[in-house]
Amino acid sequence: MKIVIQKTYEEMSEAAFEMMRELVTRNPAAVLGLATGTTPLGLYERMVKDHRERGTSYKNIRTVNLDEYVGLGPESDQSYIYFMRKNLFDRLDIPRENTNLPNGLAENLERECERYNRLLAGMQQDIQVLGIGSNGHIAFNEPGTPFGAETHVVALAESTIRDNARLFAREEDVPRKALTMGLKNIMHAKQILILANGANKAHAVRGLVCGPVTEQLPASVLQLHPDCTLIVDEAAASLL
Ligand code: F6R
Repeated sequence: MKIVIQKTYEEMSEAAFEMMRELVTRNPAAVLGLATGTTPLGLYERMVKDHRERGTSYKNIRTVNLDEYVGLGPESDQSYIYFMRKNLFDRLDIPRENTNLPNGLAENLERECERYNRLLAGMQQDIQVLGIGSNGHIAFNEPGTPFGAETHVVALAESTIRDNARLFAREEDVPRKALTMGLKNIMHAKQILILANGANKAHAVRGLVCGPVTEQLPASVLQLHPDCTLIVDEAAASLL
């Protein structure tokens, strides 16, 4: 694993953006695996700015996102599809039909997981961007998830519900279930870019880099990926 430690969140985001710009320039029809959450916002802001100011085009780019809450759709401002449209897709020239997320409103969730797995089998991510949960989750693969899992329905861990409650009016409003890519779908990416900032991620980052490869800390599976880059700020790297 390549490890890059930057002083601040802004520098972490800049380094992530440089990797993304290099890929999109080299391969304007790349498949980008994307994440939601607070961590990649600085990266997405830079992609939008670069598109506006330098004309980097996303019209032939395709995207696949990691996850979505069950029961939330594009009309809900807490859904991940809403987040992605607001923070990235609607601010680039990417056609909407090129963007993919699991459908949290699907009537049959099992069938929706199968649809997403088929889609992923046909579009390998050239890069997969990841954040990390304070409990070491990646996407919504909570501790204990088998490394061989593909897209599945997950009951969110109590710690994830607490962490994500900051983005909802009340903790009770955080959906208890989500659809998530599995670790196998993530590991299928050609290249992985995992970002982490802030002291509350330091313990998980330590497990990711130095801990045993264990299903108890899902991100540790990335030690087995042949092309994984971790970019962290100093606070998240403080236990390395
Ligand atoms: C988001 C996702 C999650 C987040 C993680 C960190 O699509 O899959 O694994 O990356 O929970 O979230 P933030 O960045 O909000 O700290």
